[in-house]
Amino acid sequence: MGSQPVAAGADSYNYKVVRQFAVMTVIWGVVGMLVGVIIAAQLAWPALNFDLPWITYSRLRPLHTNAVIFAFGGSALFATSYYVVQRTCQTRLFLGPLAAFTFWGWQLVIVAAAITLPLGLTSSKEYAELEWPIDLLIAVVWVSYAIVFFGTIAKRKTPHIYVANWFFGAYILTIALLHIVNSAFIPVSLTKSYSAYAGVQDAMIQWWYGHNAVGFFLTAGFLGMMYYFIPKQAERPVYSYRLSIVHFWALIFTYMWAGPHHLHYTALPDWAQSIGMIFSLVLLAPSWGGMINGIMTLSGAWHKLRNDPILKFLIVSLSFYGMSTFEGPMMSIKTVNALSHYTDWTVGHVHSGALGWVGFITMGSIYYLIPRLFGRTEMYSKRLIELHFWVATIGVVLYIAAMWIAGVMQGLMWRATNPDGTLTYAFVESVKATYPYYVIRLVGGLLYLTGMLIMFYNVMKTIAVGKAEDARIPAVVAHA
Ligand code: HEM
Ligand code: HEM
Repeated sequence: MGSQPVAAGADSYNYKVVRQFAVMTVIWGVVGMLVGVIIAAQLAWPALNFDLPWITYSRLRPLHTNAVIFAFGGSALFATSYYVVQRTCQTRLFLGPLAAFTFWGWQLVIVAAAITLPLGLTSSKEYAELEWPIDLLIAVVWVSYAIVFFGTIAKRKTPHIYVANWFFGAYILTIALLHIVNSAFIPVSLTKSYSAYAGVQDAMIQWWYGHNAVGFFLTAGFLGMMYYFIPKQAERPVYSYRLSIVHFWALIFTYMWAGPHHLHYTALPDWAQSIGMIFSLVLLAPSWGGMINGIMTLSGAWHKLRNDPILKFLIVSLSFYGMSTFEGPMMSIKTVNALSHYTDWTVGHVHSGALGWVGFITMGSIYYLIPRLFGRTEMYSKRLIELHFWVATIGVVLYIAAMWIAGVMQGLMWRATNPDGTLTYAFVESVKATYPYYVIRLVGGLLYLTGMLIMFYNVMKTIAVGKAEDARIPAVVAHA
């Protein structure tokens, strides 16, 4: 590491805000996944809403997606980007008070979401459900985030901008653009607004946003983590730096055009749907290029996988990344989408990306960070990390396998016809046939949540024996 722990000051890195976001990642992970488990149980046993409007499926589902994506994933992205940009630029975070504002502002957004969504206040745009006053707060926090991040890059001591920062930078800029354009609204009261767009334009803008939320929030930012934490944990340089640059430009160029694959067979013009499909197919190449670059970073160090559970999290996350970025382009083919759309296949695809890729890379990165932020060399218990890894892996596999089978079954049942042209199955028969798979998914979700609780315990124990410490910035520019 080449740096000594010191008290906070101008000659040290600002770890305080990293610590805050890192700890909140774990806490929001537990909360968001608990809500996921509750809605998974409600799908199997609908009576579990106890006829209370605040905990009906329709209100808890967006609470789940907001909590896991923006609270858990968002906190992880803030923590890691603030850490990585300082370490690789060898300079303290730009404008410390503004960085502190991003922490408190983001937590306020999350709390506001947790209150308004169960109350049924929603703009009805998926992944952008929050009403306009919260949207404004998000925009202010996000612009502050951009100032802190790019300000740090501007005052860097290293001549080079390490590739992880390119990915973090692209994610920060793009999310600002997506959020501001998609959330344009006409308010009618403090708690109600209407989209500034109408009809098919509204749908197109929504899925341009929605797909790039996947591409930049759930992918580019986490690739930033990959490019820093995998080489660090493996103690090997990135397999091919040149490939990482090609990966970057190809990925950010292509993602922008793929949104229409969410609107196949709708009122969107056919040519726009086809463009969405073609760009989605092209997206396979940069996605796999990135995955291969990450996995091959382990060349010559494969043996480390055997007894390093943190590396297991990081590398297995890439296998899930590869799987979901193969599956996604396939699902974007119109004839495949005709089967998969509206079914649980989509939900399976989402969670192989979300649990396998986003979840695992986050867990590996946070396990790497916590001891370093709290003046320890290791987590409290390595065996508990190992246990977490296996419980979570079994959980993901159960979840996604159940959804794949359920999804294909639903698609086939819905399109089956009798010789006289009538439908073979009533819709409710497909619901009944799905029941066992919903129960299996619930078991998978419970295992995944159990893993998160193990992580919470391990992190709290590490913090209890450690103490908050910031590392000194090296006087001479060196590798971070
Ligand atoms: C214990 C873990 C989890 C469980 C049990 C769980 C469960 C669920 C359930 C039951 C749904 C609703 C599916 C439907 O409408 O039919 C859902 C949706 C969703 N979840 Fe999770 N989830 C978990 C973790 C996560 C994580 C970690 C993420 C992201 C990082 C995530 C992202 C999403 C997204 C994006 C959707 C919406 C999917 C769509 O619209 O197709 N989930 N989840
Ligand atoms: C090459 C990469 C990818 C492509 C081309 C792709 C393509 C697709 C397609 C075709 C759908 C189904 C649209 C529909 O029928 O409604 C979909 C849904 C989805 N994908 Fe992907 N996917 C990719 C990677 C990922 C990754 C890595 C994640 C998560 C980390 C992810 C998250 C989602 C989510 C959340 C949805 C559900 C959206 C919704 O309807 O609410 N995708 N994707």
